[in-house]
Amino acid sequence: MSVTATLRAGVTTASPEETQALAAAWAAELPAGTTVALHGDLGVGKTTFTQGFARGLGVTGAVTSPTFTVFNLHRAGEKTLIHLDAYRLGSEAEAEALMVEDFLRDPWWMVVEWPERLGAALPGDARHLELSILPDRRHALTLR
Ligand SMILES: Nc1ncnc2c1ncn2[C@@H]1O[C@H](COP(=O)(O)OP(=O)(O)O)[C@@H](O)[C@H]1O
Ligand SMILES: [Mg+2]
Repeated sequence: MSVTATLRAGVTTASPEETQALAAAWAAELPAGTTVALHGDLGVGKTTFTQGFARGLGVTGAVTSPTFTVFNLHRAGEKTLIHLDAYRLGSEAEAEALMVEDFLRDPWWMVVEWPERLGAALPGDARHLELSILPDRRHALTLR
């Protein structure tokens, strides 16, 4: 079964490492030009997921929350990963002013935390992943 199919069915993980392994496997499966929108509250594992996703693309550097820069650019050979955290964006106009598309050198992948804050600036073909924490403390991931 593909990782996409697994995520569509819904999956739970018991550790950050498990979430990262899943994200890494998915990144290796997704074609260039894919935007992944990570939905869910603070602490559900959006940044943790992105760290695994980056590893899956071959990124070796540290991937941390781009809280102060809005987005971080990672390179792995010819691949570009944009990690955008829209938490602090005040408006859609502000999102458009980032001009992220100017950094999307082929082949690229983009992961967005707090994607709802991007409004129409979020690519229409983004894959939407819902993250949550279950009462038993496992983390749930479902592709919408
Ligand atoms: N199964 C799991 N998947 C992802 N993160 C987990 C899991 N279990 C515990 N965690 C912890 O939850 C926290 C998630 O934080 P973070 O990835 O920064 O969330 P967000 O970016 O959504 O605010 C991390 O401290 C991580 O170690
Ligand atoms: Mg985060």
